[in-house]
Amino acid sequence: MDTLQQLPKIQYTKIFINNKFVDSVNKKTFPTLNPATGETIADIAEGEKEDIDIAVQAAKTAFSRKSEWRKMAPSERMKLLNKLADLIEQNTTELAALESLDNGKPYKNSLIGDIPGVVSVFRYYAGLCDKYFGKTYPVDGDFLCVSRKEPIGVVGQIIPWNYPLMMLAWKWGPALAAGCTLVLKPAEQTPLTALYAAALSKEAGFPKGVINVVPGYGPTAGAALALHPDVSKVAFTGSTEIGRKMLSYSAQSNLKKVSLELGGKSPLVVFDDVDVDEAVKIAHDALFSNHGQNCCAGSRTFVQAEIYDEFVRKASELAKKKKVGNPFKEDTEQGPQVDQMSINKIIDLINSGVKEGAKLQTGGKRIGNEGYFVEPTVFSDVKDNMRIAKEEIFGPVQSILKFETMDEVIDRANNTEYGLAAGVITKDINRAFEFSQAVRAGSVWINTYNAVTPQAPFGGYKMSGIGRELGPDSLEGYLETKTINMSVPCTH
Ligand code: NAI
Ligand code: MG
Repeated sequence: MDTLQQLPKIQYTKIFINNKFVDSVNKKTFPTLNPATGETIADIAEGEKEDIDIAVQAAKTAFSRKSEWRKMAPSERMKLLNKLADLIEQNTTELAALESLDNGKPYKNSLIGDIPGVVSVFRYYAGLCDKYFGKTYPVDGDFLCVSRKEPIGVVGQIIPWNYPLMMLAWKWGPALAAGCTLVLKPAEQTPLTALYAAALSKEAGFPKGVINVVPGYGPTAGAALALHPDVSKVAFTGSTEIGRKMLSYSAQSNLKKVSLELGGKSPLVVFDDVDVDEAVKIAHDALFSNHGQNCCAGSRTFVQAEIYDEFVRKASELAKKKKVGNPFKEDTEQGPQVDQMSINKIIDLINSGVKEGAKLQTGGKRIGNEGYFVEPTVFSDVKDNMRIAKEEIFGPVQSILKFETMDEVIDRANNTEYGLAAGVITKDINRAFEFSQAVRAGSVWINTYNAVTPQAPFGGYKMSGIGRELGPDSLEGYLETKTINMSVPCTH
């Protein structure tokens, strides 16, 4: 794979409202950077409150009674979603290249992971357009009582930079299947694929105003969207800190519904009956995939005492072998972190680990000054009260902790404010299920990790979030339930 051949042309840099690309009202722009070099890829129209107001108005008009979108048959919505999936599939190489250029993840991962994943999410929700149901209720009195599911209205969607197009699909899929209209604000670090997807949505035939994309910063465009009185729901993925703000924005404005998918400090527990090489590989991928920039990263690796030393040695060897570099080189396994802020946070946490007495087995430093690369890092002898065992690092830093018994590891795994995911590696089915049922987390993986699929719910306990994405559960979050009770002559 030649580097130059992969660098895509940037076609879309403006705000997308009513199926048109427009400048921002204030004519401002912001640069999106290539994290492999730190250089500007393109200047993007910077949306602010004024632009959000226009976009929300467009979405409101598109949602109005008797609009083309409201009158559209569910089977027609299904066709549009499938058409969008087709177009994304046809443009896979272009989208994968844009994603890697903007975010820094290896091109081959975008190509065989992210983009096909996006297509399957859209196809799944295409199938759900006419498969959500009301009920009839055996109520007291002479009534026929039914419930009906209706789209919640205009939704605001605010997404992060770690899986830019994937997060868009998780938000657009259920919102469109439910018949909502939307305004999406992509992360300021990675606006390019969202704008490309906007162009494809127009080509697919979505009526104007149904899908709007306003790039910009969080405190300006993001806050305006989450505070908007005409937005009925906000769906957010990102940090816990900003998740809190979403709830307060809702309280300050119109009590819009809020769904949150936030951070984690997910435990992965390795019992001593395993094939150590296999377990080391699962635990390695659980943490290092997407350079550790993964909300469900297995960032607390608990290993049973009997195999601890062997595990630490092999985990360190594997991390040392990892190829870090240009995302467009075929053999690259880890590209740059997303930006300077991210590097600062990761290095600060690595330094805290050393200071607090964890053993640095490998890595620990930034690589060079160009771009935002960090050495794959492994700590052993990590204790529960160290910052690296408590805080979300969001970087390629594996923390390995030692445990002795099941009861002990369950208590320690649950001793966190987060609860997004967990994993257990063992050949003993009793151990696997005892742990899976006791751990307070939204997803549990047994002898695998990161097994997220479009069909099944994903989301967090405790401070990892509110609500579930993917599966039928996500659709439910974009629907209201209306009860209709009709008087009927007594037929009993
Ligand atoms: P962030 O939470 O600040 O950003 C996520 C999105 O929220 C972006 O689109 C951003 O523009 C928007 N945003 C920021 N401030 C806002 C505000 N006041 N009002 C409305 N929208 C706002 O996350 P950031 O700064 O990119 O990363 C910081 C840390 O958050 C990471 O190191 C990681 O620990 C965590 N994180 C977790 C993610 C997850 O998948 N759960 C994704 C990204 C970050
Ligand atoms: Mg970028």
